[in-house]
Amino acid sequence: MFAVYAESFSTDDPLSGLVVGERPDPEVPDGWTTVTVKASALNHHDLWSLRGVGLKEEALPMILGCDAAGIDEDGNEVVVHAVISDPSWRGDETFDPRRSLLSERYQGTFADTVAVPRVNVVPKPASLSFEEAACLPTAWLTAYRMLFGQGDLKAGDTVLVQGAGGGVATALISLARAGGLRVFATSRDETKRAKALGLGAHDVFESGARLPVKVDAVMETVGRATWSHSIRSLRPGGRIVISGTTSGPKLDDAELTRIFFLQLSVIGSTMGTRDELASLVTLLDASGTRPLIDRTLSMEKARDGFAAMAEGDVFGKVVFTR
Ligand SMILES: NC(=O)c1ccc[n+]([C@@H]2O[C@H](COP(=O)([O-])OP(=O)(O)OC[C@H]3O[C@@H](n4cnc5c(N)ncnc54)[C@H](OP(=O)(O)O)[C@@H]3O)[C@@H](O)[C@H]2O)c1
Repeated sequence: MFAVYAESFSTDDPLSGLVVGERPDPEVPDGWTTVTVKASALNHHDLWSLRGVGLKEEALPMILGCDAAGIDEDGNEVVVHAVISDPSWRGDETFDPRRSLLSERYQGTFADTVAVPRVNVVPKPASLSFEEAACLPTAWLTAYRMLFGQGDLKAGDTVLVQGAGGGVATALISLARAGGLRVFATSRDETKRAKALGLGAHDVFESGARLPVKVDAVMETVGRATWSHSIRSLRPGGRIVISGTTSGPKLDDAELTRIFFLQLSVIGSTMGTRDELASLVTLLDASGTRPLIDRTLSMEKARDGFAAMAEGDVFGKVVFTR
């Protein structure tokens, strides 16, 4: 079948290991089903995989992609939950120490079909297009759990979103606004700051700029480049929810003194559960909130999407269609 896969790793030139070609049809274990992929979305995770982060050499070649919306074996329109937990695991799948994401241990979604456990499909409402639904399983689910799960934010709270242009960041801005929060966002780029305002941010700032008020919570995915500013932007008792370190995990200053003196909380967040994905789908169906799609490419043109993400030249999600 047609597939977009990683053949080798390179830290400096991740696209050198990317192949747009053919791979065998997926194996379908007992209790699993296949989904015919209609649309999938690109995540920074796919670039990390090509750099050899989170993916083992012996797993190559590996079909990339965590996100998919498509049609299951019974003809139903579905969204795929990308967190694959051990069959014996009960409860929050993101806490299963043996969990993996599609494209880490099991073949990913940039292909004609993807095999997943039956419990990993969620009904797609007719109101969402396949392209919109494909944005939800990773970036949007992560943003949803950061804000309303791990972040426990409520209408009226003030939140800062760092690095406005990213897939998770644009989801954070849209969902925070839909949830009645006051939303600040930063970006290095003036055009992206203007777009963030259009997306629903109440106010935007250059990366590192002093905010007019301290915020209740910061949503952090950038890491090293923004960490200090994130900590300095919090009110006493505020919290930082972190799900990524795009600019690197090693900090110049962890701001430990501020963390204890201001009694700040640092909270990790990773993906979300199948139930959270179902709730997110319902929220979008009911509210009319929709993922911002930067560009839609046919899957044959996947390399162009990877290149744009590697350059930081995206605002919203890059979607691939079959
Ligand atoms: N834990 C999880 O479950 C989970 C799930 C999804 C994603 N993630 C992680 O979250 C991160 C974001 O993912 P994504 O798919 O949204 O990536 P993305 O679309 O590539 O977005 C990255 C954003 O980070 C900002 N950025 C990058 N380098 C920066 C720098 N040096 N200084 C300031 N800002 C910088 C940029 O914002 P501006 O250009 O606007 O400044 C960019 O738009 C990745 O590291 C990813 O691995 C984790």
